[in-house]
Amino acid sequence: MTLNIGWIGCGRHATQMLMPQLGRNDMRIAAVCDVNEAAAASAAWQYGAEATYSDFNRLLDHKGLDAVCMAVGPDLHRVASIAALERGLPVFLEKPPAKTLEGASEIAAASKAAGKPVLVGFMKRYSTGNKIAGNIVRGGDFGPVLGVTGTYMTAPTYFVGEVDYSGFFLHHCVHYMDLIPWFARADFDEMSVRKIVPQPGKLLFHLNFTCNNGAIGTVVMGTVQSRGTPMEAIQVMGDHVRVEIDNVINVAFYRDPPFKADDASATLDPACDTLCWTPNFTAAANEDHKGYNALIRDVAAALRGEESAAPTIEDGVRAMSNLERMIGLLDL
Ligand SMILES: NC(=O)c1ccc[n+]([C@@H]2O[C@H](COP(=O)([O-])OP(=O)(O)OC[C@H]3O[C@@H](n4cnc5c(N)ncnc54)[C@H](O)[C@@H]3O)[C@@H](O)[C@H]2O)c1
Repeated sequence: MTLNIGWIGCGRHATQMLMPQLGRNDMRIAAVCDVNEAAAASAAWQYGAEATYSDFNRLLDHKGLDAVCMAVGPDLHRVASIAALERGLPVFLEKPPAKTLEGASEIAAASKAAGKPVLVGFMKRYSTGNKIAGNIVRGGDFGPVLGVTGTYMTAPTYFVGEVDYSGFFLHHCVHYMDLIPWFARADFDEMSVRKIVPQPGKLLFHLNFTCNNGAIGTVVMGTVQSRGTPMEAIQVMGDHVRVEIDNVINVAFYRDPPFKADDASATLDPACDTLCWTPNFTAAANEDHKGYNALIRDVAAALRGEESAAPTIEDGVRAMSNLERMIGLLDL
């Protein structure tokens, strides 16, 4: 069944990363909305929408919508998703789901009251390397996760000239407040942080945590690295097994091989030696390594009321809860 979508927020991320995935998943952009009328008109032209609006309430009144999708920004996600749910429409929204935990909880309550799903754009679960590693960790042979370490760095792009970490927390850190517990297979329990601030706006911190399944870990985050370099690395550790993901695509799965040096017949044994994977970027296929299409495929299923692994607003509430605890400990 083709889903008629009303889309709110026609910025760079929506038009370049998300909207291109819709047609592939039998979703049709019926109407678009942006306060920037030129942005709305351009999106409508590119994706064949039949109507443009500058007020999201008017878009929600557009006849024949099956669902509403949005990539606007934290507080609009809350306000517009609740308004859509009150009209009985299911919602996909980008991260962060709201500006605060309270706001995300309001969306979750509205979703429950309407009996309609709200899906959240935590696409890092779908990036090829993270997906492979997640399947290995959940695959049965890995055993319990003992520890997770992760690094997610960025530069102070959201607050040049003005020290405000809220964009960094809401647009970046929120990803790992979802992804790291997803790898640990349990939510954070205790948390502590250490930080260094070499200059106003430049922050490096280590978040140490336990999880409620006993796993331990550290997340390194901050605003002191260039976004022109790879920013993400994760290691998930078990007993004589570990999986490492570099730059969301390169994966290495380490197990328990014998030493090689004194074995004249040493070779590589697929049963115990290290398995590595890296993509072929010259493949002329529609490869989706960041995971936007895989996410939207699951979102489309959920919006149709089918079984789906798409992250939900309940995942969004957990991530916002983790985020607010972390921000409180940082005491900036
Ligand atoms: N998951 C990811 O990889 C990823 C990447 C980039 C952005 N995002 C998220 O997507 C969201 C949008 O980010 P962006 O980079 O596209 O920002 P952007 O500023 O380019 O786009 C936002 C758009 O919303 C419009 N807008 C603002 N207020 C509005 C309102 N009241 N009604 C209708 N339209 C309104 C703006 O005019 C703009 O066109 C953010 O929440 C961000 O965190 C996610």
